[in-house]
Amino acid sequence: MSNSHEKIEKNIGLMAVLIAVAVSFGGLAEIVPLMYQAEAIKPLPGVKPYPALQLAGRDIYVREGCYNCHSQMVRTLRFESERYGHYSLAGESVYDRPFQWGSKRTGPDLARVGGRYSDDWHRVHLINPRDVVPESNMPAFPWLAQTSLDADTVSLHMRSLQRLGDPYTDEEIAGVPEALGDKTELDAVVAYLQALGKQAPRGD
Ligand code: HEC
Repeated sequence: MSNSHEKIEKNIGLMAVLIAVAVSFGGLAEIVPLMYQAEAIKPLPGVKPYPALQLAGRDIYVREGCYNCHSQMVRTLRFESERYGHYSLAGESVYDRPFQWGSKRTGPDLARVGGRYSDDWHRVHLINPRDVVPESNMPAFPWLAQTSLDADTVSLHMRSLQRLGDPYTDEEIAGVPEALGDKTELDAVVAYLQALGKQAPRGD
């Protein structure tokens, strides 16, 4: 027994291989069960693909790099759930491509921001954050209010999500121009923000 251990310790190649085997057991034990857990990829009750206006808002959120300062994942720590609400569940992000979880928080987490402020608050805040939060160092995004939405882009995005398996109906896609109307990018981002966390479990 002590002899065979000595053999391993003195043979760096063999030791490296055996370390890799030992470490991979830990990885496998964590990762493989997830692949078979239907709950991890099943939408929570009420979670649906983003309607046209929210989807447009989400694309603008990604385009403007909001994720560089805002995460959308409440961690399973008490001080987090006391501040933001129930910790995030995988089933909330089923239709998020790409997901916006992140860990960079220059600003607060936004996973539960829906309904916390009025639409008007968000409008003022996005056009110039300092008008409502004097000490804010969030950049202003005034051009959102002056830019209208492009229905073709949103329809194409929905169509490709449908191909990937998101349950959009053809009627929903055909209805995109009507759903967007003459709304601006600002309207879209506000609609997106107001929907965040609306399907989260209540309480903590
Ligand atoms: C450079 C970092 C930075 C970027 C980029 C940024 N934010 Fe912020 N954001 C902040 C900071 C800091 C705060 C906290 C102060 C405040 O409320 O303005 C904040 C606050 C917020 C709040 C209020 C959250 C709360 O719970 O009070 C919302 C909503 C928000 N940001 C949305 C956005 C959106 C949408 C974008 C992209 C269009 C964006 N932010 C981009 C830094 C940033």
